[in-house]
Order: sequence, then C-alpha cells, then structure tokens
Amino acid sequence: MAQRPKISSSDVILSCAQVADLDAIITIEEAAFPTPWSRTALNAYIGDHGFVVCEYEGKLVGYILVGPQIPSLFDRLERLTMGWLSNENAPETVGHVMNIALDEDYRGHGLGRYLLQTGVNYLKGLGVTRVELEVRVNNPNAIRLYESEGFETINLLKGYYQNGDDAFLMSKRLTV
Ligand SMILES: CC(C)(COP(=O)(O)OP(=O)(O)OC[C@H]1O[C@@H](n2cnc3c(N)ncnc32)[C@H](O)[C@@H]1OP(=O)(O)O)[C@@H](O)C(=O)NCCC(=O)NCCS
Repeated sequence: MAQRPKISSSDVILSCAQVADLDAIITIEEAAFPTPWSRTALNAYIGDHGFVVCEYEGKLVGYILVGPQIPSLFDRLERLTMGWLSNENAPETVGHVMNIALDEDYRGHGLGRYLLQTGVNYLKGLGVTRVELEVRVNNPNAIRLYESEGFETINLLKGYYQNGDDAFLMSKRLTV
C-alpha cells in the first residue's frame, strides 16, 4: 500500500463510546470482520472507559475496546497457592485488547497505532502488567502493528474464531 500521510493525534477526538455511536461502530465492525460482534455484544460495553471511539473531522472513524481480565475463582485460588509455594506476592494482572477497527477509508494514517497506545496506557493505569490479544493469522497488517508495539506471538489458537479461522495469541509485558 502506498504510504498515507499520518493524521496528527491533535486532530482527532477520543471519547468513551456512547449509545449514539453504536450505528457507526457497527458499520465499521461489519465491514472489518468476517464474524463481527453483534449489536448486543457491543452495547454491553457502552459507557465502559475501555471502549474508546476516535472522531476525525466530525466522523467516527474507529474504536478500540480493552479491559482487565477478571480472574476466575479458580485462577485466584491457583495464584494464591502458587504465591504461597513460591513466596511470590505480586501476581500478574492481565489486560485484554478485545476489539480494534478503523473505517477502511481512514486506515494507514496512524490512527490504529494511536488507539492501541491509548488502550494499552489505559490498562497500565489500571495496574495491568501484561496485555494479551488474539489476531487472525491471515491479518498481516494488524500483526505488523502489534509487533511494532512490542507484542510477541505466544501461542497458536486453532479454530479460535466462529468461522474456524486460527488466531495468534499475542502478549506484551508492561513495564511499571
Ligand atoms: C489493523 C488496523 C486496526 C490498523 O489500523 P491503521 O490505522 O490502519 O494502522 P496504522 O496506520 O496506525 O499503522 C500502524 C502499523 O500497522 C501496520 N500496517 C497497517 N496497515 C498496513 C498496511 N496496509 N500494509 C502494511 N502494514 C500496515 C504498519 O506496521 C503500520 O506502521 P507504519 O505506518 O509505521 O508502517 C486497521 O487496519 C483495521 O481496522 N483493520 C481491520 C480490522 C482489524 O483487522 N482489526 C484487528 C483485529 S485483531
């Protein structure tokens, strides 16, 4: 793809996703993914501070959804036990990039990177020490973005997506 001019972060407005943003988000979501999130699934995160939309020249052009992973009771018990065994009392707090997409006309201008950095910084502020995400193995543009932001592939998840596509599980450790 020919290099597109970067859009300055000072020219975009980031805000918490509102109900009024849902139609525009769904339009982008359905164009971006073979198995898009449903309106109900997206609506469940409206108002969450980890659901951020990006507006440029008065148009909603992209979004990111991140959140801390709430450990299951089993996980918490396991960590507690491991803590006792290893005398380690600072367990990892894992965050997740659940979704990120840009309107096709606004890709390649640096906004995906800006949204990703914003989401990761938000998680860091919550005390997250490692961020994970899944990405289709056949999505080189996203993989390149994640690698350039310090994410590493740690696993192959066979048939992870509803349509059977495989995913890479990628991870980035955050420094305090
Ligand atoms: C993946 C996505 C969010 C990236 O957002 P973007 O705004 O297009 O990306 P940016 O302009 O910030 O580019 C960031 C980096 O990604 C990589 N990249 C993005 N688009 C690329 C392309 N068409 N060709 C090659 N590399 C590309 C490059 O490494 C780029 O860094 P560089 O500009 O310094 O070379 C966007 O392409 C998108 O919405 N894709 C469809 C939805 C999707 O796949 N989401 C990810 C799900 S896991």
